[in-house]
Amino acid sequence: MKGVILAGGKGTRLAPMTSIMNKHLLPIGKYPMIHYGIERLAEAGVKDILLLISKQSAGLYCDYVGSGDQFGVRITFRVQEDADGIAGALGLAEGFVQPQDKFVLLLGDNLFDDSLGAYLAAFARQEKGAKVLLKQVDDPRRFGVPELEGDKIKLIEEKPSKPKSSYCVTGIYMYDGTVFEKIRSIRPSRRGELEITDVNNLYAAEGSLTYEILQGWWTDAGTFASLLDASNYLQGKERNGR
Ligand code: TTP
Repeated sequence: MKGVILAGGKGTRLAPMTSIMNKHLLPIGKYPMIHYGIERLAEAGVKDILLLISKQSAGLYCDYVGSGDQFGVRITFRVQEDADGIAGALGLAEGFVQPQDKFVLLLGDNLFDDSLGAYLAAFARQEKGAKVLLKQVDDPRRFGVPELEGDKIKLIEEKPSKPKSSYCVTGIYMYDGTVFEKIRSIRPSRRGELEITDVNNLYAAEGSLTYEILQGWWTDAGTFASLLDASNYLQGKERNGR
């Protein structure tokens, strides 16, 4: 299976650091943030990876990631000119991913401990559709929250005041090739972005959105508080040789 990592965006919540450098190059423990996502994919056997980056820091990405050899993977770069949303960025993966392919998508600011191998294998066995990884959280109201029905997701609600489960949708997704038609069929949201939740809800409406629950540590390192937490956690892990 191929992999796509989104590493563009504006990173407004990490300003002013992100006025000089893209968010995914900021240090977490010993490495820049982008290191961890590539490592997770490499470990799961995903060897062909598209890295979607912004114009800002393109040279730094190349300095660090290069061809991908150091990770044992092959990296292709593509630039997203305007940060018009996660689904907008994913649309640029068309061509890298062929219509008959299934693939895994990571948001580059999502850091996690679980190995992806078993989840990818389960999705490879799924006839069609998409799969998202969920995580149990204390305050689901801050996230996209799924309403579950058996092994499927019925609907995802963004920042609901009355969450229908205690899970959030993480930035780890698996799609079939119909995702690009779906992206073309959605319109920008009120904040002017093509939203990945709208794409996922099209799969949910078709009855083909499945899920798995992450067992280990997970964070979205998009704020200074979560960046610090992630650094502490990953440095501790390194110190303890885990
Ligand atoms: P977000 O955290 O939603 O957006 P952001 O990174 O621009 O940060 P902020 O909200 O503080 O302005 O993005 C989630 C992930 O998706 C992140 O890893 C960056 C990536 N992304 C893109 O690659 N392109 C985009 O247009 C957007 C919005 C996000």
